[in-house]
Amino acid sequence: MHVNCIYHSHRDINFVMLTFTLLVVLFASPSWAALPQFSWDTLPVFFHSSNTTGQYNDDALKTIAKFQMATFDKGMGRSIKNIDDEDEMVLAMRAIKAANPKIATYFYMNSYKDLPPMTRMARELSEHPNYYLRDSNGTRVKNVRGFYAFDLSNPEVRQWWLNICLNATKFANGDGCYCDSSQRENAKFYPEPPAKKLKSWGEGLLNLTRDVQEALGENKLLIGKYPGQPYVKAVQMEAFEPTNDSIVSLMLGASHGQVVQAHVPVTIDCSSDLTNYLATFLIGAGQYFYFGCGNWSAAGNDTTPLTWLPEYDKPLGPPKSTGVYNSQTGVWSRLFASGTEVLFDTKTNKGTIKWSQ
Ligand SMILES: *[C@@H]1O[C@H](CO)[C@@H](O)[C@H](O)[C@H]1NC(C)=O
Ligand SMILES: *[C@@H]1O[C@H](CO)[C@@H](O)[C@H](O)[C@H]1NC(C)=O
Ligand SMILES: *[C@@H]1O[C@H](CO)[C@@H](O)[C@H](O)[C@H]1NC(C)=O
Ligand SMILES: *[C@@H]1O[C@H](CO)[C@@H](O)[C@H](O)[C@H]1NC(C)=O
Ligand SMILES: *[C@@H]1O[C@H](CO)[C@@H](O)[C@H](O)[C@H]1NC(C)=O
Ligand SMILES: *[C@@H]1O[C@H](CO)[C@@H](O)[C@H](O)[C@H]1NC(C)=O
Ligand SMILES: *[C@@H]1O[C@H](CO)[C@@H](O)[C@H](O)[C@H]1NC(C)=O
Repeated sequence: MHVNCIYHSHRDINFVMLTFTLLVVLFASPSWAALPQFSWDTLPVFFHSSNTTGQYNDDALKTIAKFQMATFDKGMGRSIKNIDDEDEMVLAMRAIKAANPKIATYFYMNSYKDLPPMTRMARELSEHPNYYLRDSNGTRVKNVRGFYAFDLSNPEVRQWWLNICLNATKFANGDGCYCDSSQRENAKFYPEPPAKKLKSWGEGLLNLTRDVQEALGENKLLIGKYPGQPYVKAVQMEAFEPTNDSIVSLMLGASHGQVVQAHVPVTIDCSSDLTNYLATFLIGAGQYFYFGCGNWSAAGNDTTPLTWLPEYDKPLGPPKSTGVYNSQTGVWSRLFASGTEVLFDTKTNKGTIKWSQ
């Protein structure tokens, strides 16, 4: 009887535990919606740009709201004085969420550069002399383009960076952060810091991406810079070229289960024929892969970074297989459920898309 009683109470505890687990799973599951929307119905697309003059107007917001992901670059509100650009970026993230609650939004940050357009970060850095990367005699060092650098070997600096990302994500009700320059673990600085310092700085950069992605959690993304990059759940190829290497890179991202953004180089006019880029993307794309085109910033009523291509509305459907490579001809091919067929010739780096009508 006594034994039985204990037995029963164990079962009750197990039952309570099971119920609790189910409830946690049930209530936790909607937060997966924080991952970007994804569908093969049409080309999945992302937006990454900024309006240097101020907040986007309603027409612009309507267009941006059509993309599945949006990152507002550091140029946001650049020409407005007395407001930190970080706050302009958060305002833009909030505005686009209001226009489309399903869009996933990301806060731009640079992993180590002291960029003047990040006005609050630049000011806070200048208030903390120990946050700068320095050479052996204490001189603040600059990178090749003349930017001072955060000393990422210092855990206090990494915590500062992490807090800024989490704070912006919270205020914007956003979905994570973009981590620019996070591929540069072996960046060069002048004057050159001691080799030992550079080594721990590179390790610090990796630790930063690891700790920030971990702090963001399962449902939010830290967007790094190359497919296969450790720790980050998402990456952006910022100068995506129509080449075999790009296809191989896309497939690498897919094998790592990463969210991948493929961005046409900013030197390319988005209203020109992008077939070669689109075909490269379509051969290698997996689930949660997105295509993008447009300069990092524009001023006034310039809408070129908001270009919505006719191809973005054409029927696609799930792919029938991964891209197939014919080693005799050097041509990749892939068929989609709508009947759309894509070819990419590695001998000429030219693509063909036969859209189903
Ligand atoms: C950029 O910001 C300015 C100031 O808010 C606004 O007048 C302009 O329409 C915006 N441009 C776009 C494309 O939304
Ligand atoms: C957090 O972000 C909000 C919105 O951009 C800003 O007003 C606030 O100053 C930030 N807090 C910190 C500690 O940076
Ligand atoms: C010390 O600082 C000066 C000024 O930046 C620099 O020119 C010099 O190379 C540094 N010396 C050493 C030993 O790093
Ligand atoms: C990076 O993280 C590892 C593991 O947590 C730690 O041992 C190492 O000291 C960290 N590196 C730096 C430069 O902080
Ligand atoms: C293209 O990539 C595939 C897959 O890695 C490889 O087998 C093939 O040799 C590459 N073709 C060219 C022309 O580089
Ligand atoms: C992109 O914007 C930058 C300034 O933000 C400008 O210098 C450059 O010419 C633009 N590129 C194109 C292709 O429009
Ligand atoms: C954008 O156009 C609107 C409407 O014509 C105008 O009111 C506004 O001042 C323009 N913005 C800029 C920054 O030129």
